[in-house]
Formats: sequence, C-alpha cells, structure tokens
Amino acid sequence: MSDAINYERVGDIAVLAANNPPVNALGLAVRQGLQAGIERAEAEGAKAVLIYGTGRTYFAGADIREFGKPPRAPWLPDLCARIEASPLLVVSALHGTALGGGLEVALSSHYRIAVPSAKVGLPEVHLGILPGAGGTQRLPRVAGVEAALDLITSGRHIGSAEALKLGVIDKVEEGEPREIGLAYAQELLDSGAPRRAVGEMPAPAAVDFDAVYDKVLKKGRGQLSPAVAVRAVQAACEAESFEAGMKRERELFMELMNTDQRQGLIHAFFSERAVSKLPELKGIEPRPLEAIAVIGGGTMGAGIATAALLAGLNVTLLEMNDDAAAAAKGRIEGNLQGALKRGKISAEQFDALTNQALTMATDYEALSEVDLVIEAVFEDMEVKKQVFKKLDIVCKPGAILASNTSYLDVNEIAACTSRPEDVIGLHFFSPAHVMKLLEVVVADRTAIDVVATGFDLGKRLRKISVRAGVCDGFIGNRILATYRTAADHMVLDGASPFQIDKAMTAFGFAMGPFAVSDLAGLDIGWAVRKRKRAEGMDPRARDSSYADKLCEGGNFGQKTGKGYYVYGEDKRSASPNPEVMELIEAERAEKGITPREFSDEEIVRKYMAAMVNEAAKVVGEGIARRPLDVDMTLLFGYGFPRYNGGPLKWADIVGLPDLLADIKRYAEEDDYFWQPAPLLEQLVAEGRTFDDLNKEAS
Ligand code: 3HC
Ligand code: NAI
Repeated sequence: MSDAINYERVGDIAVLAANNPPVNALGLAVRQGLQAGIERAEAEGAKAVLIYGTGRTYFAGADIREFGKPPRAPWLPDLCARIEASPLLVVSALHGTALGGGLEVALSSHYRIAVPSAKVGLPEVHLGILPGAGGTQRLPRVAGVEAALDLITSGRHIGSAEALKLGVIDKVEEGEPREIGLAYAQELLDSGAPRRAVGEMPAPAAVDFDAVYDKVLKKGRGQLSPAVAVRAVQAACEAESFEAGMKRERELFMELMNTDQRQGLIHAFFSERAVSKLPELKGIEPRPLEAIAVIGGGTMGAGIATAALLAGLNVTLLEMNDDAAAAAKGRIEGNLQGALKRGKISAEQFDALTNQALTMATDYEALSEVDLVIEAVFEDMEVKKQVFKKLDIVCKPGAILASNTSYLDVNEIAACTSRPEDVIGLHFFSPAHVMKLLEVVVADRTAIDVVATGFDLGKRLRKISVRAGVCDGFIGNRILATYRTAADHMVLDGASPFQIDKAMTAFGFAMGPFAVSDLAGLDIGWAVRKRKRAEGMDPRARDSSYADKLCEGGNFGQKTGKGYYVYGEDKRSASPNPEVMELIEAERAEKGITPREFSDEEIVRKYMAAMVNEAAKVVGEGIARRPLDVDMTLLFGYGFPRYNGGPLKWADIVGLPDLLADIKRYAEEDDYFWQPAPLLEQLVAEGRTFDDLNKEAS
C-alpha cells in the first residue's frame, strides 16, 4: 500500500485517507493507493469505503506536474471507473477544494458529503484542457446539462450550498471530514441505501450544442478549451452509451493536451505561483505594515488607497490643498461604491472604510507615524524629489518610502533622502484597485527587508508582485515602449493603426495597442516623446509625429471622445477616426515613404519579435530575474493572452531560431531598432530555451 493513501478499517467501513501535501494532487502514488485500497476493502469483506483527504483539502485535482510526461497506470479515468464499479458503497467526504480530477473521484463515489466551507469545481479549461476522468459525462447526469456546461466552460468554483442545490453533493455537515464521512457511511449502511453509480444513470436530454459551442468559442477570445469542452458534454447526451461518451471525452482531452495553449496555460499556472518566491527573500521578515500613506489622490493614488482600504489597512491620503483632497476623497468613494454595488463590501463596511480607515490630509505632519508611504504625484522628477525630501524629514525611522513612478529613476529619487535603503518603487497599474500587477522596483541601495515588505504588501492587496530592477520603464513599460514603437514603424511603412489593433486582438490581446493608448490618454505618450526628444534621440531612431498632431488638436483619446478612434457617449461604440489616416498619409509623404501592404500575420510576427527581443534584453540585463517574471508582467499588466503563456513562453513555443532569423531580417532595413538581444543569440547558439532559464533559477 502506498504512503499517499492510508488504509484503516472502522467496523464495516474501509477508510482511505489521502496524504499527499499540500493539496492531495492525484499523482501516481495516490492513484495506486486508491486502487489498492478499493481492492483490499473488497477482498477483506468491508461493506463500505470512505474516501477523504487529510490536511487542508480533499483532492485538488490531477497532478499538473505529470502533464506532458508519459502517463502511468492506473490512469485517472480507469481509477474512477474502478471506484464506481465497486460493489461496496463508496462515500467521499469533501473539505477544502475538490477540483478537477478530485471532483471526478467524488463523482465516481456513490455518495458525497461535504463540510460547509468546501468548494467544488472543474477548472480544467483554465489549464487548456477539459475534465478528463469522466467529469464531462458524470456532472451533467447529476446536475443537468445547463449547470454542467456553466461549471465546465467557466471553470468556476462553487460553494457547498450551491453544490447541494445542484445535486453535485448529497449532504452538508459541520465537522471533520473523517467523522462526518464515517457517520454518513454508517447511516447509509444502516438504512440499506443502494449503491448509486452516476455512470449508470440515464443520459441527460440534449440542448442546442452548436449554438452553445459558438457562444462559448466567441467568449473565449481565442481560447479553445471551453468550446471543446462543450463537445464533450454533448457526448454525454448523444453518445450511444456512457462508455462511448467516456471515449469521446478522452479523445477531446488528448486533443487539447497536445495544444500549445495547454503549454501556455500551465506555464501561467506555475509561474503565477513562482513569481513572488524569490530565493533572497527566504527567511527575511517584512517590516510591520498597519498604516500607510498615499501622496497624491489622482487616478493612481485614489486607486492605490482603495486597494489598501479594501485589504484592511488604514490609509492617510495627502493632497496639495483642501479642494484637491476633497476631489481625491470623491474618487476613493466612487471606487468603493463600485465594490459596494458588486456586493464586495457591505454598507457598514463602506462607512467604516471611508470615515474611519481613511484620513485625508494636506499637512505632512499627519504622516509621522505611518509604516509605508506611496508617492503618486505628477510624473515629474523635481516634484517627486520635493515630496521625498519632506517625507525624509517627517517619517519615523524605518518607514518605507515608495514611489509609484512609471519611468523615473528610483535611484535618483532615493539619493535625495538620507535613507536610500528605505526607498523602493511600487509600480501599480491603472485602475490600481482592479489590475493585478505590482512591479516591486528594487533600487541599488534598497534594503532586503524593504523588498520583502513590498512583496508582503502585494500579497495583502492580492496582487501578483514581480521584482524589477531600475531602468527606463522597468520591466513592463520598457517592453511596451519597444513593441509600441514597432507598431508605429509599421504604421509609417503602410499598415493602419486599425489593422494592427485588429491583428493583435485576433492574436488574443484584450485590446490593440492604439485602442490602449486611447484608453490611457494620448497625452501620456506625447509627454514621453517630448521628453525623449528633449534628451536627444539617436539620429538613427525613426521618429513619428502624426500622433503629436492629434494631441495638438486636443484629442487625447477616450477622455476627450476622440483619438485614434471616435467614441460614442457610452465609450464602447468606437469607430476609426478618419483624420488619423490623413495625418499618417501626410507624414508618409513628407518622409518620402511609399506605403506597402502588411498581412495580419506579418504584423503579429513583427510586433511579437519586438516584444520578445526587448524582453530578452530585460532578462539579460537582470532587470527581470527570470523569463517568467516578464511573462507574468505582460499577462497581469498588459492584457497578454494567458493561453500563450507570456511573450517568452510564446517565443519558446514558436522557436527561438526562427524568431532570431526574423529579427536579423528586419535589421537589414533598420539595424538601429532591430539589434538582436545578446541573450536571445546565446540561447539559439546553445540550443536552449527561456524556460530552461526558468528551471535553472528555481
Ligand atoms: N497539481 C500539482 N501541484 C499543484 C496542484 C495540482 N493540481 N494544485 C496546486 N499545486 C501546488 C501549487 O503549485 C503550489 O506549489 P508550490 O507551493 O510549490 O508553489 C502548492 O500546490 C499550493 O498551491 P497554491 O499556492 O495554489 O495554494 P492555494 O491554497 O492558494 O490554492 C488550490 C489551492 C485552490 C487547490 C489551487 O492550488 C488550485 O487551484 N490548484 C489547481 C486546481 C486544478 O486546476 N485542478 C484541476 C487539475 S487538472 C485535472 O484534474 C485533470 C483531470 O480532469 C484529468
Ligand atoms: P494624476 O495627475 O491623476 O494625479 C496626480 C495627483 O497628485 C493629483 O491629484 C495632484 O493634485 C497630486 N499632487 C501633485 N503634486 C502633489 C504634491 N506635491 N503633494 C501632494 N499631491 C500632489 O496622475 P496619475 O495618473 O495618478 O499618476 C501619478 C503617478 O503614477 C505618476 O508618477 C504616474 O507616472 C504614475 N502612474 C500612472 C499610471 C496611469 O495609468 N495613470 C500607471 C502607473 C503609474
């Protein structure tokens, strides 16, 4: 018997307790143990079997680390069939999260009981696959087709109350899973309850599966797994037998298992967890964090304050004067109203957050006791320095002084204080109470426990925190600046902004780069271009000025109703702004450029090559520690499609030699912009991938 499953006999009941921390994933040893346990229970004359998990959860699913490796028997679908076929009464007692293969084992049991806090779900589509151990065949039989389609295509987790209502579980009871499971199994034996195999239940009635498939495919914005899962549920209704439905599920499961999307999504799953685990932070205690201050309550300051309040921190917000403070308070209240409307907080919590946890201030003395200050004033070095000099005077020793700057040099900001070791960049994304990404920007002299506190804050605010080094734009904005420039070059050469947006949304981005600029405000890019020109651009760099002309005309994008697109009242209906093409054509004529046709495929390759090349430089220079840090930055801050894993995972999948060859070809026309990243050249020369670097670093 494997150690992963402990066998115990309690009267007529054989108890199989899973012991595979942390989440009782159904790896080989667990599957072997369950199979052996069922066989032993039958051989020893038990009348019932209880399956439960020790530790924090029932089985949270198949062992994802086994995916992509040769499968080893017993396979999960066969194990589920074996459990279901047992002549004994099989009961599962659920706690924690019964997910994926875990719920499939539970559905193969004849009865299911759960503690009130248990959650169940079939989240496989988020990993690019579908439930592959009977979930698509058994769930519709117990919960009906509509509920099964909802749960399987959304992958959402549901609580025990909803699971009970849907018939996914039979009973909810307070207590330890072992105790409630034993009592329930005994009760079933005493009452002579029959063995109840879901696979033997009649097939559910079919719905219009083609219509559901089309709807789900569209909603997936390029992600295949939810739509393919619809076809598997269809087989539950339409296949000749349960076994035939299982066969169809397996075919579709294997089809998805072999996709690049599966690789991308699983990379995202593990990277999301690895990204904030830095070896240098092991054992480092973060500084205490109870009360924080935010300087500047504009778009970002108000969003950061909202996020902190929602995480239970006390916030003092400092603005320039009473009017600005009142406006900032209004913004925060507006954000919290949104949380109230969505049921995330109650009316009492709203009152407590706005009246007690939040303090508005205009005097720096109010900041003397806070543990951390996040500056979010205008993006101007002189203004920032003035703020940090004042903070240096008033803040208590050990208080952390952070800047939310997008591009400015955090070392220079730190140097204007007497305590550079306490200074760090905490770069949030707009809207800061919604966007998941936080770049923790570590300056040359930042103390290690200040870094640890940055990550601790990110965790408390439920952000994905990524470590970044200091450079112009850190990880995300630096890479953005490069691929955005590649897009501008393509526009000068003949593509339209609208074609580029269309090609990149078809690739899977939530929005195209020009629509994003309209959303962020065209004045931001304008200011950056002006700054770069003032600093002196390399004469070989291609510059373009058509977007400046849009700004000069007072068109800053969504906020003025017009930018690359013209917006309706609701901001949703947008149509291309015809003036844009006129400005572009004028600039092409002025520069003597004869426009040429671009295919969508060429646009994607060039745009992605620029992104990957800059990302490789960012990793090569140590601004990002690992390729996965870049991948998570683009995924959580820049709308990169999760099913492609991130730009560097995508690069591995399409092949680094091909990408490097593209870059070298582009360099024949513009060898200033297209300078291959040394790291990319090195990896190609050594026949290695970015993921090899991730593995070496873990
Ligand atoms: N396989 C392997 N490792 C897993 C795992 C799994 N199914 N689920 C979680 N882990 C690992 C995590 O990688 C993490 O490892 P680390 O400590 O080395 O980083 C550790 O377990 C703890 O996980 P979390 O940090 O995510 O812990 P939380 O408490 O925050 O969340 C959870 C727990 C809700 C179970 C979450 O881990 C989760 O959602 N897991 C994935 C569940 C899932 O997708 N199951 C379906 C799998 S596919 C399947 O079953 C196919 C079948 O149909 C054939
Ligand atoms: P904003 O213009 O909306 O807000 C700035 C606020 O700071 C204003 O309310 C202003 O009254 C206040 N302020 C200015 N000087 C001050 C001072 N000396 N003391 C106190 N308050 C002062 O600007 P936004 O967009 O919120 O940006 C703030 C910072 O965040 C900038 O550094 C910006 O680069 C950065 N950032 C902006 C993002 C965005 O998408 N808008 C994203 C990430 C970072």
